[in-house]
Amino acid sequence: MEKQIASLHLVSAFLAMEPTDCVLSHARSLGGGSVTVDVQRFVWDHCISKAIGKCHAPYLKNFLKKLILEIESNHDDVLDELYELYTEFMISLKDENAVKGNVRALKYISFLFPDDASCKDAMVRKLVVPLHCSLNMLEGDTGCSIWPASLFLSEFILSIPDMFSSKTCFEVGSGVGLVGICLSHVKASKAILSDGDLSTLSNMKLNLKMNQLSTGDDEPEFSECSDSVKCLHLPWECASESELQGLEPDIILGADVIYDPLCLPHLVRLLSILVDKSEPSLRFPRAGCDSAIGNSHDYSNRCNSQDVEAARDRAGNASPTKHPIAYISSVIRNANTFDRFLALVDKANLTVADLTGTFQPASLLPYMQSYDRSSIRLFRLSSK
Ligand SMILES: C[S@@+](CC[C@H](N)C(=O)[O-])C[C@H]1O[C@@H](n2cnc3c(N)ncnc32)[C@H](O)[C@@H]1O
Repeated sequence: MEKQIASLHLVSAFLAMEPTDCVLSHARSLGGGSVTVDVQRFVWDHCISKAIGKCHAPYLKNFLKKLILEIESNHDDVLDELYELYTEFMISLKDENAVKGNVRALKYISFLFPDDASCKDAMVRKLVVPLHCSLNMLEGDTGCSIWPASLFLSEFILSIPDMFSSKTCFEVGSGVGLVGICLSHVKASKAILSDGDLSTLSNMKLNLKMNQLSTGDDEPEFSECSDSVKCLHLPWECASESELQGLEPDIILGADVIYDPLCLPHLVRLLSILVDKSEPSLRFPRAGCDSAIGNSHDYSNRCNSQDVEAARDRAGNASPTKHPIAYISSVIRNANTFDRFLALVDKANLTVADLTGTFQPASLLPYMQSYDRSSIRLFRLSSK
């Protein structure tokens, strides 16, 4: 069973294009400390030979180089196939370092669901999501890369599927579309993804189609079937109140959207419209009631172990007449920007609860050493 898990982690890391050192460390684990001939054979059969012509070639070349170096430095024999392919790459990919610009790659994100502990021989269930993404983190206003906060939000959704099933879910700044694919997997009744960047939006649609999800583009009306996900071009600055009110989500989601101070007022306005169903005149505090966030923000320490239960219950009961809830996952890179977000949220009469300390979704990406879950915070926004 341990070998089965180790080989699953190795293949998953390779398919997700994890840093080559990380893939190598999985290969070492599988071989009990070194990349044995059996492990090399496994890597060739299950990773490399399947990836030829499909995987980003410079990645494969780099992986081969490190793999061969590792084996040689241990004075072990290297499989002929590995040498031959590396030699081919040396000839055909001489100037890959000169490749500049927006290079896309196909990554496969495998969510591995822990097996039933009572059943020793149970296979690990997995959900594999292929995603086109850019190797340039800034492409598409940052929306063509997979950011760790969306991995976390995906784990959150897949950990508590009943909280999202049969719900209308709306995501802001959806990027490559991973969260929407997970929402569809847990049978959200409607998943609406949005982004303000057009190239991100077209990449997102490509990803949805690749995952056998209809984007509704080819149909006269957005179909209600669970394998369709709607994509909206929605720059926060231009979203009209009536357009937002027409969405009527039960749950609003956002991953790594709190980073640009200039966009924050627009993002918070949008969230407050979606979360708060009170009369617009009641939505913002009276003039002069600009309560200092330092006095009133209770987002950290407010939640307790019942918080997620309460969130689950509340979401479970959500209907168009109830107040929707927003879940935002975020890496806090700049404390000032985050404080600005909190101040705006407070001004917009929204309550923020930090769920990070009390709720951790199941770890479904255990092979992904580059994904640091501890850097991610999860917040719940609701109307005061
Ligand atoms: C850091 S990326 C996160 C993408 C995705 N949620 C993830 O975590 O992988 C931020 C996303 O927000 C979108 N975004 C940024 N500013 C925006 C704005 N003003 N209006 C709409 N979308 C915006 C970007 O296009 C990008 O897709």
